[in-house]
Amino acid sequence: MSDGGGEGELRGQVALVTGAAQGLGYGIAAELARRGASVVIADLQGEKAEHAARELGGAAVQVDVASSASVDRCFAALMAAHGRLDILVNSAGVGQTVAPVSELPDAEWERVLGVTLTGSFYCCRAVARIMERQESGCIVNIASVNGQNPAALVAAYNAAKAGVISLTRTLALELAAYGVRVNAVSPGPVYTDFNKTVMAQRCRSLGLTEEQMIERIRSAIPLGRWGEAADIANGVAFLCSPQAVWITGEVLRVSGGLEGVSAAPPKRPR
Ligand SMILES: NC(=O)c1ccc[n+]([C@@H]2O[C@H](COP(=O)([O-])OP(=O)(O)OC[C@H]3O[C@@H](n4cnc5c(N)ncnc54)[C@H](O)[C@@H]3O)[C@@H](O)[C@H]2O)c1
Repeated sequence: MSDGGGEGELRGQVALVTGAAQGLGYGIAAELARRGASVVIADLQGEKAEHAARELGGAAVQVDVASSASVDRCFAALMAAHGRLDILVNSAGVGQTVAPVSELPDAEWERVLGVTLTGSFYCCRAVARIMERQESGCIVNIASVNGQNPAALVAAYNAAKAGVISLTRTLALELAAYGVRVNAVSPGPVYTDFNKTVMAQRCRSLGLTEEQMIERIRSAIPLGRWGEAADIANGVAFLCSPQAVWITGEVLRVSGGLEGVSAAPPKRPR
């Protein structure tokens, strides 16, 4: 997964990663574990989280980040078991069903904002209380290049990720006096379940095959390839590492140089 750098540097630290049953969250938890952290896999998919925890030698907890009661229960259980939390990574998030703003239903807006933005807020709030008391800790929120450069047809997702960046920077100011650092990583495209679902919808709307779409995205990435979960995990692990002790309120784009996708869709048939 990695070149072996940083091995053991997080030994003794407790790290909770939301959305870590699969995808980027799993890759991040694996890298933090490789660097020596005790990892807690927090996810809506309880069984899959248990499985991931067994693979990584960590613990699992089922949580719905869109529910403040579920989030508060999750962190109460974590504190009862470990007594401390050194690292929180908010990776749980959902994509949006592709649609123009003029056709975006209330329920879809609320679903995407509820998990992707409000879920990050609930977790940050619970953990801010813990880390203020400890006077130490590190939070990394997973944003997206879309949060900085919005793509057409996913307004709820773009707004959620822009909100995650704003939340990150606000919290970095509020927690600085407690020695707690708060940063964000904005990934570019990685071929996870999340991306496959959105890509399938975009392929249909553009009349492209999946292979054509994969190639179109690849060719837009300055470094010439799609990302891997390990690329994102290395960025997150760096922000959690001793090398990043003077970095807070930062948004680290890990995207092969891709700043965003700005294509404007044509008029829709009436
Ligand atoms: N894959 C990409 O190309 C890409 C690019 C930019 C940003 N991101 C962001 O990275 C993060 C992870 O995405 P991924 O690609 O790993 O997606 P994924 O769909 O593979 O994984 C998301 C995980 O979040 C969990 N989850 C969803 N809703 C939840 C909830 N309410 N409570 C708890 N857990 C919940 C899912 O069960 C799943 O395990 C997301 O925030 C996503 O927006 C992904």
